[in-house]
Amino acid sequence: MKSSRIPGFYKMSIEERIKIIKEFAELSEEEAKTLRSFNGLTKDIANIMIENVVGSMQLPLGIATNFIINGKEKLIPMAIEETSVVAAASNAAKLARPEGFKAKASEPIMIGQIQILNPCKDAEKKLVENKEDILDLANAQDKILVSLGGGAKDLEVKWLSDDMLVVHLLVDVRDAMGANAVNTMAEAVAPLLEKITGGKALLRIISNLAIYRLAEAEVIYKKDVIGEDVVDKIVKAYEFASLDIFRAATHNKGIMNGIDAVAIATGNDWRAIEAGAHAYAAMNGYKPLTTWQKNENGDLYGKIKLPLAVGIIGGATKVHPIAKLCLKILGVKTAKELAEVMAAVGLAQNFAALRALATKGIQAGHMKLHAQNIAFMAGARGEEIDIVAKKMIEEGKIRMDRAKEILEEIR
Ligand code: MEV
Repeated sequence: MKSSRIPGFYKMSIEERIKIIKEFAELSEEEAKTLRSFNGLTKDIANIMIENVVGSMQLPLGIATNFIINGKEKLIPMAIEETSVVAAASNAAKLARPEGFKAKASEPIMIGQIQILNPCKDAEKKLVENKEDILDLANAQDKILVSLGGGAKDLEVKWLSDDMLVVHLLVDVRDAMGANAVNTMAEAVAPLLEKITGGKALLRIISNLAIYRLAEAEVIYKKDVIGEDVVDKIVKAYEFASLDIFRAATHNKGIMNGIDAVAIATGNDWRAIEAGAHAYAAMNGYKPLTTWQKNENGDLYGKIKLPLAVGIIGGATKVHPIAKLCLKILGVKTAKELAEVMAAVGLAQNFAALRALATKGIQAGHMKLHAQNIAFMAGARGEEIDIVAKKMIEEGKIRMDRAKEILEEIR
């Protein structure tokens, strides 16, 4: 049976890790070679992704181990520049085993907004009366989406001021992130909305506040595993975030460390996800996206809920060679499943951050890689990096000048 529990993964060579991932995700030799190349993005592909291409900006791609989500063993690809995030997620997932995370996602309904200026006074009534025609026109733009069970499903109408009204077109985008489908539909129905309302359509664009496309995950950390005092400390750490916006911002940043890293690895639009997450957090005064409580057994119960507009088709997800591989490693078959994974990773990341912050502090976990960074910048190469880093940690002096001195001593 496949297991994401791979003891000592962090100590293995990159070659050994790729061998394990290849087996786990049943990658072909070619796919494993692409991973090994550290450079999946060719010039030609980059050139069709954006304009004015001159190169590529690489990020490290790591694999978080130990995840069980809805009973399935998962290895999680994470692309991120920040030290400790992958290790923290892996560790949080390990402590949640064997139950792991339960996650679910709603139907992939996105909102397209059409702003109408100076509509007639009974515009709302007229729009409702003509709803079917509007939806039909929207659906005529994307026959494939409709054939897959998606498409425009409903309308919402809201007055924003005396002379401004907004129409929300609710579109089931299936396995896409949805911006293209929704924006095309919003633009296509705008002239009809003008005719119906007698007003003028101005903006026609998706909303990133995807309140109908929510993902949730929950987890229980046993007090016998993490310690009773840690349960209490994490509950208090959560209370801090729920009472204070300055803390809530950082609390949510930690959640997004995990979610963004998976979004980037899978070629998803992480700016859209960030915008949606923070707007959602702010709907009733800015709040943490997770909650942590002590349950009746004294264990720690955590939950996350946020909009996750992610796709597994379209955009970079199917063009970028590494994104395609990451989706294969995740083994997700639908966008909903990807959203579930991301919610679970966000929750795990938040647990790891709160546990570290409430116990030994965040810097301890950062030290090793930070020291290695400094050693590298001081000129250490190969084995020297570890030797210099270790010595600086022992001495409690992680500084460039000291790294250079140690380097001279050992050379
Ligand atoms: C650092 O990238 C993330 C944390 O600040 C999150 C948090 O404070 O909860 C550690």
